[in-house]
Amino acid sequence: MPRHFLRDDDLTPAEQAEVLDLAATLKAAPFESKPLAGPRTVAIVFDKPTLRTQASFVAGIAELGGFPMVVDGNLAQIGTRESVADVARVLGRQASMIVWRTFDQGRIDEMAAYAGVPVVNALTDQFHPCQTLADLLTIREHKGGSEGGLAGLTMTFLGDAASNMSHSYLLAGATAGMHVRVSGPDDYRPDTAILERAQEIAATTGGSADYVAGPQEAAAGADVLITDTWVSMGKEQEAADRAAEVFGPWQLNDHLVGLGADPIVLHCLPAYRGKEITAEVIDGPRSVVWDEAENRRHAQKAILTWLLAADAGDTGGAR
Ligand code: CP
Repeated sequence: MPRHFLRDDDLTPAEQAEVLDLAATLKAAPFESKPLAGPRTVAIVFDKPTLRTQASFVAGIAELGGFPMVVDGNLAQIGTRESVADVARVLGRQASMIVWRTFDQGRIDEMAAYAGVPVVNALTDQFHPCQTLADLLTIREHKGGSEGGLAGLTMTFLGDAASNMSHSYLLAGATAGMHVRVSGPDDYRPDTAILERAQEIAATTGGSADYVAGPQEAAAGADVLITDTWVSMGKEQEAADRAAEVFGPWQLNDHLVGLGADPIVLHCLPAYRGKEITAEVIDGPRSVVWDEAENRRHAQKAILTWLLAADAGDTGGAR
């Protein structure tokens, strides 16, 4: 059975560190490693809007010597025109790997069950693990010390703590041995099972994972401050509930940044200046968002390369 990357805790702590090391190596020499030479095809399927994810996967797969086959989810109508399982069986015969941005996590779990090739989550309603891999690479570069270690750093996410990004930070940060705090309004707490899973992982890595109600308490002493749009993809209908009076205290502004410990600021983008983050912060000296955006490519090249190696010897599907 091929390995997949469907949620952040699909990688053990040692595997996550290995992938991040590989990402740094690939970043240092972006055109030297060609594990997809052939070219082998990687299907990249989008059921939701994208800029960074499509651009970074297409560029990264090309750099690895492969062919990025972009599939428009609006045309494919996966799960409507035909079942997820049948689409998985078809794409698995055309491509060496499948990357999918879709809605419920159950859809990508089903894709992985039937594809016969590695499947990578390019964002679901529950998780965005490719983004957090890129973010951990970025944090290593700016805060990781001489050996690039992440363990012991405090990472705070502010805003919609029930969102896919919040869930991925909990799992990925705990895996890295970080102290993860997610903070948002009481109605936007993280999923209990995911928080408990992060705490279970943290108990093995020396990290911690917590929901912290107050934004000041959450930001205090943080090495990394992160926010994201208050309106997650697929939840636009809730936008009216997400007015400034709901999320306003969690806006990443100079006041909250000032409470951190010489913090860097991340935002996975797209950003809405004046809402979840001020222009002064995202365009200021602590912001590393453009490195973060670039690192999507390097981190994704690393997970594709790692999954391909893990899959070597498996004879199912298109190779
Ligand atoms: N951060 C992110 O996933 O960007 P896109 O939605 O533009 O792909």
